Amino acid sequence: MLAGKHILLIIGGGIAAFKSLDLIRRLRERGMDVTPVLTRAGQEFVTPLSVSALAGNKVFRDLFDLGDEAEMGHIQLSRVADLVVVAPATADLMAKMAHGQADDLASTLLLATDTPVLIAPAMNVRMWDHAATQRNLMTLRQDGITFVGPNEGDMACGEFGPGRMAEPLEIVSAVEDALSDGPLKGKRILVTSGPTHEPIDPVRYIANRSSGAQGAAIGRALAAMGADVVFVTGPADVPPPDGVEVIPVQTAKQMLEAVEAALPVDAGIFAAAVADWRIEGASDRKLKKSKDGLPVLNFAENPDILKTVSHMKQGRPPLVIGFAAETNDVLSNATAKRARKGCDWILANDVSPETGIMGGSENAVTLITETGSENWPRMGKDAVARELALRIARVLG
Ligand code: CTP
Repeated sequence: MLAGKHILLIIGGGIAAFKSLDLIRRLRERGMDVTPVLTRAGQEFVTPLSVSALAGNKVFRDLFDLGDEAEMGHIQLSRVADLVVVAPATADLMAKMAHGQADDLASTLLLATDTPVLIAPAMNVRMWDHAATQRNLMTLRQDGITFVGPNEGDMACGEFGPGRMAEPLEIVSAVEDALSDGPLKGKRILVTSGPTHEPIDPVRYIANRSSGAQGAAIGRALAAMGADVVFVTGPADVPPPDGVEVIPVQTAKQMLEAVEAALPVDAGIFAAAVADWRIEGASDRKLKKSKDGLPVLNFAENPDILKTVSHMKQGRPPLVIGFAAETNDVLSNATAKRARKGCDWILANDVSPETGIMGGSENAVTLITETGSENWPRMGKDAVARELALRIARVLG
C-alpha cells in the first residue's frame, strides 16, 4: 500500500537528524519515493551527500536556487508529494509553521503545500514544555497537522523528559496511518448543518445566527477520514465541504424529509440549528403594510429531526449525535436534553453572546454520553470536528 507513494521529507537542524537517515532507508525499503529537503541547520548535523545517496534523489536546500527552479519550482515541489514529513521538527520549524513564516525553502514549502503534513518534533525538554512551543503545538493541531512523538527519555543534552524524536519505525507507522484510506472508509455518515429558514412570506423568513461552520467542519473531518458523508444543509454562511454529497434545504420540514431519504446510515450527526417554530399558513404573497393594523403571525411547532431519528423503531442509525446550544446551566440542560431527545451523545455548547461561539471560529464543548461528561478545551471548530470524528471512528471502526 505504501509502495509508489511520494514523501517529501524535510530534515530540520537537530541532533535527531541522524535518525532521519535511517528513516529514509525504511521508507525506501517499503517502496516509497523520498525527496529530501535539508534546512541550513540540518546541514550542520547530516551532510547533503549522505541524505541524497540514501534517498536516491537530489536533495533540495535553497529557496533561491535557479537550477532547482528550472528543474522543479518550490511550489510544485510542495505539491507533488502524497505526504510531507518533517523529521526532526525543531522548535524553530514548529514556530515558523504556526506563524506562517516563509523565509527559507523548508518553511516556504510548508506554507505552500496542500498535501497532509506529519511532523516528528525533537527538541530539548524545556523547549518542548515552554508555553510558546505548547501554543504552537495547539495551533498546528488546529491547522490539521498530524504529530508523531516526541517520546520521553534521555536526551542528547543530558536531560530527561519529552522531546526525543520518535523512532524511525514509529514514524513509518505514522506515515502508514496518514496515507491509509482512513478509519471511516466504507461508513456512510449523515450530517445536518446550518440554520433553517422558515418563511413568513415569499421575501421574509425567521432564521437564527448559525453560520454552519461547525457542521461544515464535521463533514470535512469525516470525509478526510474516508467516510461517505451525506451533508444536509440549510442556508449557511460557510460553503459546504468538498468531497461530500450536499443536499441543500431551506426549512425544518424539508430537512426532515432529506434526512429520512438519506437513511440508512452508520451514524447521524445533527449539528443544524433547526428553527423550533414555523409560521403557520405563511403567505404566498408579500405581506403589505395596512391601515387595519399589524400582521399577526401564528407559530406552529416544527418536527424535531433529532428526536424523530433517535426514536425510530426501524432504521435508527447505530450512533446518533446531537448538539445542545445552551445559554445557561449548560451541563444540566444538555444532560436532560440527551435523555429527552433519545440520542447517544450530545455535544453541549454555551452559545451566550459573550462566548462569541455562534457565528465564531471557535467552540468549547462538553461531550455527554451515557456514561458521563467530558469538557473539551476551547479550540477551533475544525479541531472539535476532528476530535469528534476520531471518537466516531473508535466506535464504528
Ligand atoms: N434539533 C432538530 N430538530 C429540531 C430542533 C433541534 O434536529 N426541530 C436538533 C439540533 O440539530 C441539535 C439538537 O436537536 O442537535 C438540540 O438543538 P437545540 O436547539 O439545542 O435544542 P432544542 O430542541 O431547540 O431545545 P430547547 O429549545 O429546549 O433548547
